[in-house]
Amino acid sequence: MAVLGLLFSWTDLLAQKTLKEAYKDYFPVGVAVAPRNLSGPEAELIKQQFISITPENAMKMGPIHPEENRYNWQDADAIVEFGQKNGILVRGHTLCWHSQVPNWFFTNSSGQQVTREELLGRLKQHITDVMTRYKGKIYAWDVVNEAVPDTGKSIYRQSKFYQIIGEEYIQKAFEYAHAIDPQAKLFYNDYNTESAAKREKIYQLVKKLKDKNVPIHGVGLQGHWSIYEPTQQELEKSIRQFADLGLAVQVTELDVSVYPKEHERRARKDTDQSIYTDEMMQKQSAHYKMLFDTFRKYKGTVTGVTFWNVSDRSSWLDNFPVSNRKDYPLLFDQHYQPKKAFEGVVNF
Ligand code: G3I
Repeated sequence: MAVLGLLFSWTDLLAQKTLKEAYKDYFPVGVAVAPRNLSGPEAELIKQQFISITPENAMKMGPIHPEENRYNWQDADAIVEFGQKNGILVRGHTLCWHSQVPNWFFTNSSGQQVTREELLGRLKQHITDVMTRYKGKIYAWDVVNEAVPDTGKSIYRQSKFYQIIGEEYIQKAFEYAHAIDPQAKLFYNDYNTESAAKREKIYQLVKKLKDKNVPIHGVGLQGHWSIYEPTQQELEKSIRQFADLGLAVQVTELDVSVYPKEHERRARKDTDQSIYTDEMMQKQSAHYKMLFDTFRKYKGTVTGVTFWNVSDRSSWLDNFPVSNRKDYPLLFDQHYQPKKAFEGVVNF
């Protein structure tokens, strides 16, 4: 009987639509990748299920541009080649972010902090070099990432880019990007976009850009959510509010943690157990179903959905917000098999 049960569950899985089949009339469904995902069973799963990939780290300023006159193209090239070879779209991530910036970026040759003009020059050079290399091969870019703080009154995060250049660094980044590849869709990308206060600040930021005719085409809702958030109303409010500005919306870094959401790293407590109960699994399935029902409802506005990592075997959430607490945030389990949540996403 057990063998029969197993046989039935395999037949069910084989009969299921893949993500890319189920969503072919809606939007590309993508996944964040590292070069290690591009061979073996993960590569097969990616080719079978996804129609878009995003480099998880390889195109960030630090990894790709570690020294002023040296680029490290290897990992990013491998990801773009994998996309080209397999007919998979590539999303670029990310041209300007306060995190993972190499130290040299803000310091000149005499060890002083760079001036506003020098920093704008470096930003322009960086964006120009990276986008020129992949011109025509990357259909959308996260141009500026996480420029808005979670708390406080200011719209702008007090990053070095902001402190040295002022809010204009955002506009400039979009202009530099558009000048290099006018076909690429350019996004502002952030997390915690369903918090009322942060949504409003992001709205103000992108509205200012639109009012000035800055070439911005969309907002990326990162989608680092959990089984407890967001509500459908909160999500719809974000989608509608950005769509009202004439912007596309992409969900750029989707995962649904089984733990309450925390946005700051912290020390591990004794109560932080790595658990995945049946109740969590059910709640996660219902949550994923609600999310994708909502994304489909906004077909035309939602122009892409990308998962942040391939399967529960390994995800950035295994080490965030606390080190070594395993999370189970994705649609594929630790053996690359579709989870219950997958069914609710592909069957509609
Ligand atoms: O590459 C080095 C390796 O040489 C070194 O030995 C190792 C030791 O710690 O670190 C490796 O770098 C790590 C890198 O991932 C590549 O694995 C960094 O420590 C680690 O901090 C980095 O984490 C990434 C994180 O961004 C950085 O803030 C995660 O993989 C990545 O998933 C995460 O992605 C971000 C998005 O870009 C923006 N939105 C939030 C999202 C989650 O934080």
